[in-house]
Amino acid sequence: MLRPDQGGIHPREAADHHVERLPGLMRDALNQAGVKVTELDGIAFSQGPGLGPCLRTVATAARALSARHNIPLVGVNHCVAHLEIGRATTGATDPVLLYASGANTQVIAEARGRYRVFGETLDIGIGNALDKFAREQGMPFPGGPRIEELALAGRARRQENGLELPVLPYSVKGMDLAFSGSIKAAQRLVTKGMSLEAACDALQEWTFAMLTEVTERALAHTEKTEVLLGGGVARNRRLQEMVQTMAGERGASYHCPEPALLSDNGAMIAWNGILALRAGHPTPIAASDVDQKQRTDDINLTWRDPSEVRFAPKPDAGVLARGAEAEVRHGDLAGRAVVLKQRIPKAYRDLAIERFLVAGRTRRETRHMTEARLAGVPVPAVLDADPEAGLMALALVRGAPTKEWMASASALQTRGLFEGLGAAVARLHEAGLVHGDLTTSNVLVTDGNPILIDFGLAERTLELEPRAVDLHVLQEALEATHGATAGPDSPWHIFLAAYQAGWSDAEPVLSQLGSLQARGRYMSSH
Ligand code: FE2
Repeated sequence: MLRPDQGGIHPREAADHHVERLPGLMRDALNQAGVKVTELDGIAFSQGPGLGPCLRTVATAARALSARHNIPLVGVNHCVAHLEIGRATTGATDPVLLYASGANTQVIAEARGRYRVFGETLDIGIGNALDKFAREQGMPFPGGPRIEELALAGRARRQENGLELPVLPYSVKGMDLAFSGSIKAAQRLVTKGMSLEAACDALQEWTFAMLTEVTERALAHTEKTEVLLGGGVARNRRLQEMVQTMAGERGASYHCPEPALLSDNGAMIAWNGILALRAGHPTPIAASDVDQKQRTDDINLTWRDPSEVRFAPKPDAGVLARGAEAEVRHGDLAGRAVVLKQRIPKAYRDLAIERFLVAGRTRRETRHMTEARLAGVPVPAVLDADPEAGLMALALVRGAPTKEWMASASALQTRGLFEGLGAAVARLHEAGLVHGDLTTSNVLVTDGNPILIDFGLAERTLELEPRAVDLHVLQEALEATHGATAGPDSPWHIFLAAYQAGWSDAEPVLSQLGSLQARGRYMSSH
């Protein structure tokens, strides 16, 4: 690992450095392994995503070596390589990967034969966010390890003295998240006189709770049973502890590669190259161009055995749904059959975060569902609520989750459902509300009509961004789980047309959606 003397990484300088170091590094690696270049079975290189100049430099070297020695070339996707090195070294088979690094923060899992991004940061990667805070506080780059040290001391002192964790913004939308607000708020705490240790502690507790929650949400949504860590930020012990605790509580297994394989490393690129070559898929020179924004779900997983897909067992009888934050079961309220939604306490997060989320979300959910219903949005009636206990009683609605319903619905029925959903979301937004977690798990279907459930992340807002995020989350879910976003007759486009027809202010939301998607998965934050 090489670090610049000061500041971050400059793409051009890093590429020049690659040029300078590559020949010696190759020689050292071959000497250490005791093999000659001509004995290599393949030359693997990272094709993207990443910094353009660096990718191009190494790709050129790889092509030259491949051509000169007549050795097969193989281009590897950087994000997929993190997942594969984890599968190879930890015993995970079909995991949900929390990939937390400087530039990237994504939750990735296999669905329909590809690795797909179920959630991601909507602004900057967690590593870059922590570095930003560190830089403002005059800490050396990279800031993460120093923040971890300070936070450890801050947490110990807080617990010794029985102090409350200060409240920072908590920004989770569906399986997406954002960090800018948390960083700014933590900086304000220091400006107001809080010790750096205490601020680092707060920053870690709140942002890592967000990372852990979106990972759990992806586990619940995909029904998978393994969690895997990847990326340099996953070296943080506190993050590891939180994800491990969450996995334990959920009955999922926890997998974490050794530290050297968590950070970006050559072994993961080489290993993925071996997998692709064994499956008989080298990369022809003509297809070996780098792609700075190469998408995870563009990669054909030629090496993966389809029988490796694992699903969680169904929840116990009586439990209607076991989401990431709540259990939903049949119940009884004064003799009436109802649905009880009970938020589940999470041992991985601090008590202050727990109270903030459980009582706050139950209170907001009750209010927002009631308001949505008054505005004519199809939602179940809230009959009673106890925010401190995280408990709600809802009118019983008979319906199947969209996820399951779509599997057996005709094209005509699907069209009807998504027209109805577009109109319902338009009405919701027009009423000044956003859902906040608009996945297909949260749309029930009764007689072919949609009913929106789970308003735990709903907000009252007139801003464009959260409205665009609602649409983005739905699109992600449709794409990742159902592959239902391509073509004018796809559920996504039927939904969009109905949304647009549903209210006069749809246009600015759609253009916000465009700019949001240009920021997210299609672009890194370099
Ligand atoms: Fe990486």
